[in-house]
Amino acid sequence: MSLQGKHIVLGITGSIAAYKSAILTRLLVKKGAEVQIVITSAGKEFITPVTLSALSGRPVISEFFTSGDGTWHSHVDLGLWADLMIVAPATAATIGKMANGIADNMLVTTYLSMKAPVFLAPAMDLDMYRHISTQRNIEKLRGDGIYIIDAAEGELASHLEGKGRMEEPENIVATLEQFFATGHDLEKKKIMITAGPTYERIDPVRFIGNFSSGKMGFALAEECASRGAEVILITGPSALSASHPNIVRVNVESAAEMYDAALQNFPQMDAAILSAAVADYRPEQKSEEKIKRSGKEKFTLSLISNPDIAASLGKIKEPGQLTIGFALETNDEEHNAMKKMEEKNFDYIVLNSLNDPGAGFGHDTNKVTILSRNGEKQSFALKSKDEVAKDIVDNAFGNGKLTMDN
Ligand code: CTP
Repeated sequence: MSLQGKHIVLGITGSIAAYKSAILTRLLVKKGAEVQIVITSAGKEFITPVTLSALSGRPVISEFFTSGDGTWHSHVDLGLWADLMIVAPATAATIGKMANGIADNMLVTTYLSMKAPVFLAPAMDLDMYRHISTQRNIEKLRGDGIYIIDAAEGELASHLEGKGRMEEPENIVATLEQFFATGHDLEKKKIMITAGPTYERIDPVRFIGNFSSGKMGFALAEECASRGAEVILITGPSALSASHPNIVRVNVESAAEMYDAALQNFPQMDAAILSAAVADYRPEQKSEEKIKRSGKEKFTLSLISNPDIAASLGKIKEPGQLTIGFALETNDEEHNAMKKMEEKNFDYIVLNSLNDPGAGFGHDTNKVTILSRNGEKQSFALKSKDEVAKDIVDNAFGNGKLTMDN
């Protein structure tokens, strides 16, 4: 996807690199984007609104009101209009204000009203850039889901050499093109994913569990997040870590805890993917003390059934919400999977067969067939779990299938 027709809010702050914003504006406009510039008072000391409005073809916004006629500039409308906001150059002061929500000018206020993804291209002297407070604010913004276009090395305005130069406009444009090209088709969608095993305690040191690693669920979480979704990853004990800032991880241990977390979050979701290997049973009684062997020749554990998370979600599912389940079968696979889809009210079911080498628990690879409610079937080759995650997301949510706006 190109930048053709994209609405871009370009924030400009007070740095020598502001001259590069004129070039950036020109390049974006040439690519077919509509550019609305919001500049700080300090920014205007470095580049004039006359130059910028001529290049963007739109009046430059700086204040909340136009002096003279009192026209109010709505940061809320800008937040809704934009497909993307980029602050380039972003000074240490603006980064600090953005990280802490200090909305004392039009630019930061617009940022707080922004509904679209936000990029930052920092520019400052090397000492300021590597200062602990700047780095802390950048990390904070990264954690808030802001995309940082890291400063480049080179000669700085101070004539010192180091890191702090704003990235070149050509490279910024390439980054934005890449961003749109990777398909942000799940932007603003809320997706809940269950992953990993559950542990059902027998006593303080023992549990009933299974060999699920969580790899499939974590790969699905990364795939959805990288396509713009806000992901809630409810996971049983897993050694894996989720890296994307759009993933909120909720750690649980037992099926009962996973059930509570899933039912609490689901009403706010557009979709849920149930990839966890939930224990079907748990010990009827959990011993508070370690169970001793002392003379027992035979030990019987009485188990009771756990709640079925997928089936419970299937019952409360509203129109527009999608649920996707997994089925791990050893015999009569498709028939059993279709039955499971019916019973749990899934829209899609991902079937992996234990008969396929390299598929299922613990492996880095998986081989799946995706079955849909309305009878479509697609089988895939043995692939990495990352690639399988993409196939599942393309199949279930691709082409705007996930349409409900919460
Ligand atoms: N599932 C769930 N909660 C449970 C059990 C299963 O959410 N208590 C979900 C799984 O995450 C998966 C699907 O239901 O998406 C199917 O899981 P599976 O264990 O294959 O199904 P079961 O209903 O337990 O059937 P089986 O008798 O084949 O084990």
